[in-house]
Amino acid sequence: MWDRRDFLDIDSLSLQDIGLILKCAEIFENYSGRGNKLEMCRGEILVTAFFEPSTRTEKSFEAAMYVLGGDVLRHHEAGSSREKGESKIDTLHVLEQYSDIIAIRDPEVGMMRSYADSLKIPVINAGDGFNQHPTQTMLDLYTIKKEIGKLTGLTVVFFGDLKYGRTVHSLIKALRLFGDNKFYGVSPKGLELTDVYTGKDYKEIEMDDVTKIKPDVIYSTRIQKERMHPEERDNYSYEINKKFMEKLPAKTRIMHPLPRIDEIHPEIDDDPRFIPFKQVRNGLHTRMALLALMLDHEKEILSLSKKR
Ligand code: NCD
Repeated sequence: MWDRRDFLDIDSLSLQDIGLILKCAEIFENYSGRGNKLEMCRGEILVTAFFEPSTRTEKSFEAAMYVLGGDVLRHHEAGSSREKGESKIDTLHVLEQYSDIIAIRDPEVGMMRSYADSLKIPVINAGDGFNQHPTQTMLDLYTIKKEIGKLTGLTVVFFGDLKYGRTVHSLIKALRLFGDNKFYGVSPKGLELTDVYTGKDYKEIEMDDVTKIKPDVIYSTRIQKERMHPEERDNYSYEINKKFMEKLPAKTRIMHPLPRIDEIHPEIDDDPRFIPFKQVRNGLHTRMALLALMLDHEKEILSLSKKR
């Protein structure tokens, strides 16, 4: 049973919570994928307050709420009273007057708890600085489960900017909850995974070693330039391309939260092992699950599975 008000980080989730989200996402995928209109969230309003750019997270939250029959209010910094100097917290207190649930993206690490404490509606962390991105993790787990068939006994390589890539931070924490997974990191010097996330189950390797360990998943990220000190910015160069793919087994899946910049060459886009756009699609159903559970529609979701 879903009994949490907010969705702030992986640390405050149990295996049961994650299992329930994935189960409900599957129900929604099977149900709404066949053109069925849902009325579950009719009359309910989601606010998306994104203080950082977004394409997928914002749009998939919007689409999820529309498919559930609800409505969406979007806060964008440009054109809002933030340009007159209004504080973030005042802006959020205004937005909560018009809505039932709020998804917030913030460049500052660790603000989500204080937003949740001060707002009266449920808060979803849609990414906080270089810290975490827990809703991305739900769609990543859903994708891995669908593609590989399991969430334990996996060999996962994290590839790219592991220091600032928040999707990696949330995903490694969540996969640890499932147990018996092995993690490897390939990153440019200076962008290694920090001690907060490493552990006995984690090893740094070189790009050339990746093909030898025959990974189930290679999870790639872009360099998070906007989060770096100017002196850290460099011309990092690393790339997954056709030549590299030729050395990987058929079972390996290449994942990426997107946007990709130049870390995956478009020449591999037709390779069935390249699945970032499937991740995007899965984001719709996992965010539908999350919104509907947080808005107290669990029984209605579960009853949908009986209507199939
Ligand atoms: C990621 C993010 O915002 O952290 N994008 C996303 O939500 N799919 C990854 C990134 O920006 O690199």
